[in-house]
Amino acid sequence: MTEAAGAPTTRAEETGEAATSEAAVIDRSEHLAGAENAVLRCDELFAGYIPGVNILNGADLYVGEGELIGIIGPNGAGKSTLLKTIFGLVNVRSGTVTLNGESITNLKAHALVERGVGFVPQTNNVFPSLTIEENLEMGAFQAPKKFRERFEFVAELFPALKERRKQRAGSLSGGERQMVAMARALMTEPSVLLLDEPSAGLSPKLQDQVFIRAQQINKAGVTVIMVEQNARRCLQICDRGYVLDQGRNAYTASGRDLSNDPKVIELYLGTLARA
Ligand SMILES: Nc1ncnc2c1ncn2[C@@H]1O[C@H](COP(=O)(O)OP(=O)(O)OP(=O)(O)O)[C@@H](O)[C@H]1O
Ligand SMILES: [Mg+2]
Repeated sequence: MTEAAGAPTTRAEETGEAATSEAAVIDRSEHLAGAENAVLRCDELFAGYIPGVNILNGADLYVGEGELIGIIGPNGAGKSTLLKTIFGLVNVRSGTVTLNGESITNLKAHALVERGVGFVPQTNNVFPSLTIEENLEMGAFQAPKKFRERFEFVAELFPALKERRKQRAGSLSGGERQMVAMARALMTEPSVLLLDEPSAGLSPKLQDQVFIRAQQINKAGVTVIMVEQNARRCLQICDRGYVLDQGRNAYTASGRDLSNDPKVIELYLGTLARA
């Protein structure tokens, strides 16, 4: 497992920038080695909403082809901001986002969709006044001719959506809506899917369904980056996990190693992890 702080290579040494407090002691060597052949990588991302206030403070992340990675961390750590920044919804102030070796830093969302990135936001992720089918049509608006083919693909993953395709999304349960949101993002045939807390607000049974679907989507060949509040369950299914704290990586390792690490348990998983 990698603990981010206390290592020899410093950001200030590499970039020549003025060192600012803790940001100066991040060992990036494991990230740099692992990210070499990554499908998508973020390097030293700084981003935020209000001028002069960074929410991301040098976050590094990579995902290899076919991997499912999990991002956990306390409320307000910047997890959603990280996904939004990758997807061009929050401006990158410094650092890079790279997809298949090409910079996608600060590209807008529609350009990212064209390049094969899909995003399911944490909230407001369906059009409630539209039917399930219309939601999926919205998902496929950039390639309407592919609608039938993609509809069949998502219907296999989510059979209930096909049966109820004429139902308005606003009348669905939270779990069903989450399925619509995931299906909508899959309509664009993404090679990388960003999922922001897909299990939030769901009953334990429905949460489990969401994790199973995420795994199925991943097994169907989609690379997945998943932010999750159900940290323990997330670490069970992900190939690798990141703990984000105050906008930068606190720990990163395999899901299993993270969920067994006493420090991670104490600081981020609490008693849940020992259950
Ligand atoms: N649109 C916004 N404008 C200003 N500040 C924002 C905005 N969105 C988020 N923030 C701030 O950025 C910080 C990180 O928020 P973010 O939503 O990324 O956290 P998170 O790790 O996803 O938390 P949670 O687990 O609660 O979803 C918070 O302090 C939040 O108040
Ligand atoms: Mg969030």
